Amino acid sequence: MGKDVAERVVIKLGGGLLTDKSSLCTAKYEVIAEIAIAIAELVRRGIFVIIVHGAGSFGHLKAKSWQLHLGRNDEISGGMELKSQDEAISSVRRDMDELNEILVAELSRNGVASTIHPPREWVVGSGVGFKGDVSRFATSRCGQVPITFGDVVTCDPPVDFGILSGDDLVYRIGTEVPGVSRIIFAMGDVDGIMSGLPEDDTSLLLNSWRPGEALIGEHHSNIDVTGGIFLKSERASQAAANGIEVMMIKGLRERIIAAGSGEDCVGTKIFA
Ligand code: IPE
Repeated sequence: MGKDVAERVVIKLGGGLLTDKSSLCTAKYEVIAEIAIAIAELVRRGIFVIIVHGAGSFGHLKAKSWQLHLGRNDEISGGMELKSQDEAISSVRRDMDELNEILVAELSRNGVASTIHPPREWVVGSGVGFKGDVSRFATSRCGQVPITFGDVVTCDPPVDFGILSGDDLVYRIGTEVPGVSRIIFAMGDVDGIMSGLPEDDTSLLLNSWRPGEALIGEHHSNIDVTGGIFLKSERASQAAANGIEVMMIKGLRERIIAAGSGEDCVGTKIFA
């Protein structure tokens, strides 16, 4: 493509932003509507957007019950009206499709066309080293937004399957698709990385963060099957090490527009 490589922005919409994480398959429709307006504005500005979204309560709860992140184990009986891990895999994938459809419909209402790339169709293996060709995200039309998401993927035996986090997808897409200049992690309840626990009133927003600096966060391992803020920060700084501008922001309409356009924005800038 040479010097006319399109400038691209990868936006990760966290599961905690799009859903109520504690209540099974509960989408935050008003939040998704606002996000779609922001994405439409970025597209209108001529920015090539790539969307990766998380799972929240459409993925973690069932995956955790059936321990899908740990691979094949016929001893597991995770309930939730499912009989086997194979049934749980199909069910989580259906739920992820449902969340994806809510986002896609909202984008379409705002005039944004998208193409969906569920990892189960093109990825083998979980973790950042997954096998899969991300060149499918190097679209040549600005108005066609490619979307992918955290998913249950096939893994080599004996594990057979696992959970691929959107944060790992973001890193691979950000560093391997030509022209990605910015990565934005849009999160639910926090302005960025905080100096203390988000619910603590004395916590302050850190305007910048680099590995080695304190990272205070909660990883709800009773709910989450992927790495939460810790995985996000690690992938974010690895991407920054590749010369990409990386921001963690609260997923509000105006902030997504500003950060996505490379303008100043409340949030945490991540360094390598
Ligand atoms: C998790 O993806 C995927 C499943 C549990 C199926 P993410 O790791 O990207 O999801 P969030 O953002 O933490 O919800």
